Amino acid sequence: MTAQVETLEFQSEARQLLQLMIHSVYSNKDTFLRELISNASDALDKLRLEAFRDKELTAETDDLHVELETDAAARTLTVRDNGIGMTRDEVVSLIGTIAKSGTAEFLAKLKEAKQTEELIGQFGVGFYSSFMVADKVTLVTRHAGTSEGVRWESTGEGTYTIEPVEDAPQGTTVTLHLKPEDREDKLFDYTDAATLTSIVKKYSDFITWPIKLGDETLNSMKALWARSDATEEEYAEFYKHISHDWQAPLESMRLQAEGTFEYQALLFLPAKAPFDLFMRERKRGVQLYVKRVFIMDDCEALMPEYLRFVKGVVDAQDLSLNVSREILQQDRQIERIRRRLVKKVLQTVKALPEEKYRTFWAEFGRALKEGLLDDADNREAILEIASFDSTHSADEQTKLADYIERMKEGQEHIYFLTGETRQAVEHSPHLEAFQDKGFEVLVLTDPIDEMWVDAVGEFQGKKFQSIAKGQVDLDETKDPEQEKEFEGLLGWLKSTLEEQVKDVRLSSRLTSSPACIVGDSYDMTPTLEKMYRAMGQEMPQIKRILELNPKHELVMALRDAHAAEKPDLAEAAELVYGMALLAEGGDLTDPPRFTKLMATRLAKTL
Ligand SMILES: Nc1ncnc2c1ncn2[C@@H]1O[C@H](COP(=O)(O)OP(=O)(O)OP(=O)(O)O)[C@@H](O)[C@H]1O
Ligand SMILES: [Mg+2]
Repeated sequence: MTAQVETLEFQSEARQLLQLMIHSVYSNKDTFLRELISNASDALDKLRLEAFRDKELTAETDDLHVELETDAAARTLTVRDNGIGMTRDEVVSLIGTIAKSGTAEFLAKLKEAKQTEELIGQFGVGFYSSFMVADKVTLVTRHAGTSEGVRWESTGEGTYTIEPVEDAPQGTTVTLHLKPEDREDKLFDYTDAATLTSIVKKYSDFITWPIKLGDETLNSMKALWARSDATEEEYAEFYKHISHDWQAPLESMRLQAEGTFEYQALLFLPAKAPFDLFMRERKRGVQLYVKRVFIMDDCEALMPEYLRFVKGVVDAQDLSLNVSREILQQDRQIERIRRRLVKKVLQTVKALPEEKYRTFWAEFGRALKEGLLDDADNREAILEIASFDSTHSADEQTKLADYIERMKEGQEHIYFLTGETRQAVEHSPHLEAFQDKGFEVLVLTDPIDEMWVDAVGEFQGKKFQSIAKGQVDLDETKDPEQEKEFEGLLGWLKSTLEEQVKDVRLSSRLTSSPACIVGDSYDMTPTLEKMYRAMGQEMPQIKRILELNPKHELVMALRDAHAAEKPDLAEAAELVYGMALLAEGGDLTDPPRFTKLMATRLAKTL
C-alpha cells in the first residue's frame, strides 16, 4: 500500500495564531514544553478514564508516562506519550482548527493591542506554541484501541500534510525540529538535558505522570493540593499550568475537609480577567479529581457562574471515577463542597489587602455582582465586599459600609442613580439637590447594576433608593402657596404632554435645571429600557413623570405666560420636556423637530 499524503490548509484563525507564534510574541519561549507536557498529561488522564469506563478497550495502560528524547546532531526534541492519541479526523479538527469560542474576537483584539503578550497568555495557545521554538513540527499519533496511525507535519505556514502510518505506537509523539539557539531571544538549547530538566521542574513538577528523560524521572509527581508545605512559587507554577495564564495568581486558597466526605481543594484568584469573561460560552475554571485521578475540566457543579473566573482543583475522595456531570449536579455532597468553596472565595476577597482588593474588584467586580441575583444566600456577603463609584470621590470607589458610616443625620436610604456612564449620571439633573444638600449618591453604571439593585432591596437594614424614582422629600415642607401658583400650569402641561408623561409636578430635587423626568418606584429606568431594546425586545413606551423646578426662571416665565394665555406655549412645553430627556441621557423621539422648534425660539430672542 502506498501511503497517501494529503496537503490541507489551516483554518484562517489557526493560520493567524500560527503567524503570531512563528514571529513569537511570548518572551518566555520555554513555556512550549509546559504546553506539550500538559497535552500529553491530558491524553494520559483521558486514556486511564476511558480504560476504566470501557473494559473492552484494547489499550496498554500499565506504564503510562511522558518521555522526552533529544537528538543534538539532528537538533530535534521529541515529546512522547502513550495516552489516548488521536484519529485522523481528530488531528484535522483539533490541530488544524481552533474551536475555542471567541477566537475571532480575540484575534481582532490582538491586532489593536500593544501588550500582545498579556492577551495571548490569557488565550492559551497550546500546541501551536511549538512553533515558537521549532521551524517544523512532526506529530505521529494513534488513538488507543485502533490500529492505524496518522502522521502530521507542518512548518506552520498555512498548510500541513497528513498521511496514514502503519506502525505508530499508541499515543502521540511530537517531534520539534528546533530553531537555532538564540539566547538573546530567550530561545535556549532544548536538546540540552540540564535545560530540559530545569524547565520541567519549574513548570511541570506536579504533573501526576512520570516525565522521563532517559532513565531519569524529572518530576516529583506530588499533587500540590495534598501538600501543606508547598511554596508560593510552586502554587504560581501550578496555577499557570491549569489556567494557561502567564502571570502569577493574585491569591491562592487551600481547603481541606476530613471526616465522612473528604476532599482537598486548591483555588486561585487570577490577577487579570480573561478576555472572554463575559462571553456566553465561557467555561468555569475548576477541575475535579477523584483520588488523584483527573475527572473533568470546567466542573460547573463546583463553582457558580458568577465565580467562573476562579481557577483550581478539587480532589474528592469518595466519589466514583464514573461520575458524570448530571450526577454531580444532583449530588448533595458536591452541593456542600460548592457552598464551602464559595464561602471561602468570598471570605478570601474580603480579607485581601487593599491594593490586591482594588485589582480584584476592577477585574472581576462586574462578574461578582451577578451573584447578587444568582446567589441569594450570599447576597449580604457579596454586598459587603462590593465597591461602587460614588459622588463622595471622583476616583475612589466606596464600600457600602463606608457609605453608611458617612450617611447624614436623618438619612434613611442608600441613594443611587443608574446610568450609562459616570459622566452622564453626574450631569443628570436628578442629582442637583442631593449634591447641594450634601447627600452622597452611588453612581451605578454597569448594566448588571440595573438588575440587582431592584432585586436586592437593602443592605444592613438600609433600603436602596433611586434618586430618579418616586417622590423625594429633601425640602422640609411643601409650600401650599407655591402649589397654588403653579396649579394652572401643571394641569395644562399634563394634558398637553399627555402622550409623553403620566404626570407633571413640582420638584424638590432640582436646583439649577428647569425640569427632569422621574419614574414611579416600580418603573423601569431609561437605561434598562434601552438595554432591552438593544437586545431586540419590543418595549411599550414607558410614560414617566415630568418634574419642574419652581425656582427656575424658565418655569416661572412659563407659569406667567400660561396665565397670560400667550400663543405657541405648546411648543415651549415640548421643548422643556425634550431638554429634560436630553439631560438624563435619554433619546429624543424626533430630534429634527426638536431642533427646528429650538431654532425658531432662539431666533425670537436675538
Ligand atoms: N498529546 C496529545 N494526545 C492527544 N490529543 C492531543 C495531544 N496534544 C493535543 N491534543 C489534542 O489537540 C487539542 C488541541 O491542543 P491544544 O494544546 O492546542 O489545546 P488544548 O489543550 O485543548 O487547550 P489549552 O492547551 O489551551 O488548554 C487538545 O484539546 C487535544 O484534544
Ligand atoms: Mg493544551
